[in-house]
Amino acid sequence: MKNVLLVDDDLEVSNSLIDLFDPERYSFHHLEDGQGTSDYVSEHLDNLDLVMLDVNLPSCSGLDLLKNIKKINQNLPVIVISGFISTENAMEAMREGAYEYLTKPFEVNRLIETVNKACGFGRDHVKQGSPPDTTFEEDVSPDEIVGQSPEIVEIAKLIGQVAKTDAAVLIFGESGTGKELVAHAIHRNSRRRNKMSLSVNCAALSDTLLESELFGHEKGAFTGAYFKRIGKFEQCDQGTIFLDEVADMSMLTQGKVLRVLQEKEFERLGGNDTIKADSRIIAATNKSLVQCMKEGAFRVDLFYRLKVVSIYMPPLRERKEDVSLLVDHFIKKYNKSLDKNIHTVSNKAKNLLNKFIWPGNVRELENNVHTAMVMAKTETLQAEDFPIFNENNAKVEIDLEGLQDDYTTMFERLIDPIFPKLVANAEGRAYHMMQSAMEKALIAACLKHYNSNQVKASEMLGISRNTLRDRISRYGIY
Ligand SMILES: Nc1ncnc2c1ncn2[C@@H]1O[C@H](COP(=O)(O)OP(=O)(O)OP(=O)(O)O)[C@@H](O)[C@H]1O
Ligand SMILES: [Mg+2]
Repeated sequence: MKNVLLVDDDLEVSNSLIDLFDPERYSFHHLEDGQGTSDYVSEHLDNLDLVMLDVNLPSCSGLDLLKNIKKINQNLPVIVISGFISTENAMEAMREGAYEYLTKPFEVNRLIETVNKACGFGRDHVKQGSPPDTTFEEDVSPDEIVGQSPEIVEIAKLIGQVAKTDAAVLIFGESGTGKELVAHAIHRNSRRRNKMSLSVNCAALSDTLLESELFGHEKGAFTGAYFKRIGKFEQCDQGTIFLDEVADMSMLTQGKVLRVLQEKEFERLGGNDTIKADSRIIAATNKSLVQCMKEGAFRVDLFYRLKVVSIYMPPLRERKEDVSLLVDHFIKKYNKSLDKNIHTVSNKAKNLLNKFIWPGNVRELENNVHTAMVMAKTETLQAEDFPIFNENNAKVEIDLEGLQDDYTTMFERLIDPIFPKLVANAEGRAYHMMQSAMEKALIAACLKHYNSNQVKASEMLGISRNTLRDRISRYGIY
């Protein structure tokens, strides 16, 4: 029998949660408020297997209770449950040693699996049931990482975990996805939070200037070095340094950064003294470092040193559920600075915003909301207020071109390894053979996707139904 303490003020949610578990395997003790929690844990420490804490309790915060419980017993697993999705809470919970952070409404299987694992059980000992129902509330603050997609919540949890350590972190993802924001969040949640945190953009400076920025220089080290300068590694001693666009560093500078990572030491440009500095390194890139390594432009040893932990920021188009939350967030942000009182977005604009593919990711969305707010004539943002929907046609063309480039790269990678075989076997018909193969695969995939609905498939492919039928019979697709 496993003993679980559940602290949640919502009786309905608690009962339906308890109902999910086999009473012969699990015994739940339920507290509706946090006050008695620490006492209960201290008294029952010997036969308590798990604590489940709601974040929002009537008289205290579940996150404070988590800290108290961890002081009583570091090893007792605690699952933090939250009624609204907050990346700040997710970060804090994981940083303070929570076993897991789950959000309501629960994904039942995940909840059961997590409880079982925390109690050292396999998957079997459960009773299935329907998920408890709770409402979603939003709560955002200005420098919060806004989002409610599973991807963003996982990233927030990871931030909380890595913030506890001094490990180097590599953040990668397309431009505008929030890499710098994540770097700040790691620093803000770490024990270095009261020390200096500085960013260096490695792409923006020439070699010498970048090195001088990073390591400092002595007076006269190079033309224009009129004064001695303390570099950012030195300024960030005990703090955090953020190396942005790290792929753009020259091989020589990479070697020096590697030395800082390994030995925590370096020399100023033009100087002989070895300087010691302990700064945590967080790096970011929107280029593929693997590709850079293949091209011989990035050091393999530095890559592995930087990516002790890596965080991938997915593009906004892959987490569309974050769009409306981000729009609300930016409206609140700019209402203040623009002294406006915008409070709604027209349904048409909402629809368009959700459909757009956002090649420039969150930054592009933010810029658009900002401009729309400047342009707005009423307290509701209209589709025409957003530059992206104004210059509609030109913009979409450019985006499609970009997308096409991506597909070309994808095919180049596919074709490259088979190319010699392809030309050898195709007897001068390589072009037709590949084009037909590609066409057949695309049509088959599309028909599968739309359950063989030819009207939908032809619409989606942008070909007539006659052409589609012709290809189906030509290629014998069923
Ligand atoms: N999840 C988010 N919540 C709130 N604001 C966000 C979020 N993601 C990004 N932003 C905002 O979008 C803008 C771009 O983010 P950021 O500078 O962190 O992107 P980046 O990945 O570093 O981009 P680049 O590769 O171009 O340097 C910033 O103003 C940032 O505050
Ligand atoms: Mg950036």
